[in-house]
Amino acid sequence: MTTFETRDPTDQAFWSERFDRNFMPWDKGGVPAALRDFVAQSSRSAVVLIPGCGSAYEVAYLSEAGWDVTAIDFSPAAVGAARAVLGQWAARVEQADFFTFTPQKTPDIIYERAFLCALPPRTHAAIAARWAALLPPGGLLAGFFYFDDAPKGPPFGIAAAQLDALLLPYFERIDDRPVIDSITAFAGKERWQVWQRLA
Ligand SMILES: C[S@@+](CC[C@H](N)C(=O)[O-])C[C@H]1O[C@@H](n2cnc3c(N)ncnc32)[C@H](O)[C@@H]1O
Repeated sequence: MTTFETRDPTDQAFWSERFDRNFMPWDKGGVPAALRDFVAQSSRSAVVLIPGCGSAYEVAYLSEAGWDVTAIDFSPAAVGAARAVLGQWAARVEQADFFTFTPQKTPDIIYERAFLCALPPRTHAAIAARWAALLPPGGLLAGFFYFDDAPKGPPFGIAAAQLDALLLPYFERIDDRPVIDSITAFAGKERWQVWQRLA
């Protein structure tokens, strides 16, 4: 069994240790179908921010679609892993802490995958508030939300009512659908949702 030195997912060392040891059970190794559908259905390119991007496969995909994407991760090992797969788009990944990062451009869209569920529930209100602060009225929070009631994580699942309580003060949900290509760890427990920032 794999054992790790670090136990606190709010510390970048937790994630760096796992990237360094190539233990990333959350890593999809590619771009999820729902994001591809979302891009295909969008009428214009957008400025996108990806917090907690990990390997950041989505950066190459969105960049090649003509979207202006910035991805951040506070783990230097994650940033290194992302840059290693991104080739010409490597500079679009920055080492930064989501809670203090200020983007150069206001995002139209924040893309979420396995960031909220990476961090313990005591941080979730701060994440929701930061999403809301970063997006302008009409801006979109789009991505994957992991629903589960297991007490331990990561991943830290959330109940549907808890997600509503977190987001409805700032956002209206405008899309909600099952996910067809989940990795094993999330299968049957994640949904693709799009939330629009209220005025
Ligand atoms: C479970 S991984 C998900 C990575 C990626 N989004 C994916 O779908 O594969 C969570 C990532 O969030 C990053 N992270 C956690 N807290 C962060 C913070 N405060 N600021 C930036 N990145 C953070 C971790 O370093 C890790 O790479």
